[in-house]
Amino acid sequence: MTLDEMSLTQVREEAKKKLLGVCGVYKICDGDSMRICQGQSYGRPLGFGGVGSGASFNNNILALKKLKLKMKLIGDHFKADTKYDFFGKELSMPIMGASVSGVNSFGGEKVISEKEFCRSVVLGCMAAGTLGWRGDTYTYSLENSYGINAIAEASGFGVKIVKPREQDVVIEFFKKAEESGCVAVGIDIDGCGSYAMYTHKKPVYKKNSSDLRELVSSTKLPFIVKGVMSIEDSILAKDAGAAAIVVSNHGGRVLDHTPGTAEVLPEIVAKLKGKIRIIVDGGIRTGYDVLKMLAIGAESVLIGRDIVRAAVGAGLDGVRIQMEYLQKTLAKAMIMTNCKNLNDVDSEILL
Ligand SMILES: Cc1cc2nc3c(=O)[nH]c(=O)nc-3n(C[C@H](O)[C@H](O)[C@H](O)COP(=O)(O)O)c2cc1C
Repeated sequence: MTLDEMSLTQVREEAKKKLLGVCGVYKICDGDSMRICQGQSYGRPLGFGGVGSGASFNNNILALKKLKLKMKLIGDHFKADTKYDFFGKELSMPIMGASVSGVNSFGGEKVISEKEFCRSVVLGCMAAGTLGWRGDTYTYSLENSYGINAIAEASGFGVKIVKPREQDVVIEFFKKAEESGCVAVGIDIDGCGSYAMYTHKKPVYKKNSSDLRELVSSTKLPFIVKGVMSIEDSILAKDAGAAAIVVSNHGGRVLDHTPGTAEVLPEIVAKLKGKIRIIVDGGIRTGYDVLKMLAIGAESVLIGRDIVRAAVGAGLDGVRIQMEYLQKTLAKAMIMTNCKNLNDVDSEILL
């Protein structure tokens, strides 16, 4: 079988063999306490699951599950148009690869190297017509910046999210990202509590409004604040000049007992729609989930853990297959809810 003939099921079967003891590659990936990923004890490295009880991870799934799609089937047939404009780049879909980093969380170099993981995400997403975002962890430095290198290899077709390190270090990363030609940069403000960064002596901090303003003015690229879970933070991010926010609880990995992202998204949208780009992630596994997030007001979404499984299963091709699957299921959901293009998607398609 060639890589081209591989199906998503086969990609995931491969991933399951390689992620033994780390991730069960279950049909439903929900952070339930019985899953392998949640079997880790307090005080141990996080692995692939959610922090603490896993409630935040699980709440992402539960919040999405509560939303239900309304079928509208009588009418002329059409091909759904999933095209999406992201800061002037035309993408094939409003779905991008999340800024996941740190292969040590899912088995380490014996499973996939950091370099190959970053290449798989960025180049695999690009092959599917969309953007791969790249993250930051304690193994990254300005000298070993795996994510930015992969973005440079893709001639800048990527987004770089830096941990909230010291201001001057973040700015240096942004400069390097700019040199790679990258589309946008940002910080994951929810990384300020990262135990992994702390134990590896890479300090991370809460950022105040003037820190954010300094970061905005340090770069000519659009600046993104990832990790927003409240109206208060979303307004402060906008007022500081951010071009986009990502409503995210980091896949439930940073603070136990937060709501699901689909629970807080509508109130943030009600306040800020049209004033800043609003992106969301957390528990999104199919195009049906994507459509639900768009229906409650996100303009696009990020995919985290499924991108890891795809990259581990079959590298760049695995990621491409994963993203194509998401696009196909989104297009199908749009036809069944009578949305010809993304402008047609609104809360009316929910019951
Ligand atoms: C193993 C792992 C590592 C992650 N590393 C980062 C990171 O370095 N930077 C970042 O912004 N987000 C990071 N995230 C969070 C993702 O970008 C994303 O917010 C989250 O995975 C979305 O939830 P999902 O996995 O349920 O799709 C990480 C997530 C996982 C699972």
